[in-house]
Amino acid sequence: MSRAQRVRALARERDAVIIAHYYQRSEVKEVADFIGDSLAMANYAATTQAGTLVVAGVRFMAETAALLNPAKTVLLPEPEAGCSLASNCEADRFAAFLQQYPHHTVVTYINSSVEVKAMSHVLCTSANAEQVVSSLPENTPIVFAPDRHLGRWLEQRTGRHMVLWDAVCEVHADFSLAEIDRLKGAYPSARVLAHPECEAPLLELADVVGSTSRLLAEVVDHPDETYIVATEEGILKEMRQQAPFAKLIPAPQNTPNACACGECPYMKLTTLESLEQALIHERETIRIPTELQQQALRPLRRMLDLSR
Ligand code: 13P
Ligand code: SF4
Repeated sequence: MSRAQRVRALARERDAVIIAHYYQRSEVKEVADFIGDSLAMANYAATTQAGTLVVAGVRFMAETAALLNPAKTVLLPEPEAGCSLASNCEADRFAAFLQQYPHHTVVTYINSSVEVKAMSHVLCTSANAEQVVSSLPENTPIVFAPDRHLGRWLEQRTGRHMVLWDAVCEVHADFSLAEIDRLKGAYPSARVLAHPECEAPLLELADVVGSTSRLLAEVVDHPDETYIVATEEGILKEMRQQAPFAKLIPAPQNTPNACACGECPYMKLTTLESLEQALIHERETIRIPTELQQQALRPLRRMLDLSR
């Protein structure tokens, strides 16, 4: 039996589903029960009947699944799979920051810790952030955390002024504008697709700005075009599968890496082997203290209700 087959057999035995983000390794996505962006993963986690949820993604995604399923087993195969946005918005610093804005509504990106979520009024993902911010009554004073690039883009889209926390995604903030300009010269008809975690000058130049699933839908809807893709390279697999005639050019980064493209080091930690070990040894189990779980679930539910 191959390792992939063993993983599937173990998942069946354990009444487990494997929920994978688009940025995961191909071999991990191939054994998953569900693949999606962070909003779709949360919606799936909220409705699955399975007793165990194995999250092939990063910690905040597993924590989101655990908030929605306090009585179930939620496993994060790679405990070190973090996120630069969540780790640069520490709970104690955030609490001190919020003391300056006691009357503000706190809108928090799902890429954050449970503790930070618990201090928030409503959460959002990149797929529904515009909808969430626009749903607040006009003139509501808003704090937005932790991604300042997404925050600035939302300010432009919604016309709302927001107080922004200052953190960035180390992958999306690193795409090279100079290299993308050079590619635009070489492929004048290419359309630039960018995730809203990218820097403002790149978002201004982009033809489409959106969540991972929004960018995938753009390629599927216009399958004969050329695209410069400024988001994590994992999504190229689904783009190639669903639009085989599209020409896809991964946007280069300022900091060259082995694949010369945008790879999230945390997303790529999960392997077939770590999935197998997670299922055999039931690890790492995500446990959230009850009071914290209830506090953090409120803004998460509010987001899910809003974007239904
Ligand atoms: P999505 O909400 O588009 O899945 O993005 C999550 C993420 O971590 C982007 O870097
Ligand atoms: Fe976090 Fe960026 Fe990785 Fe997404 S790509 S998980 S925002 S570090």
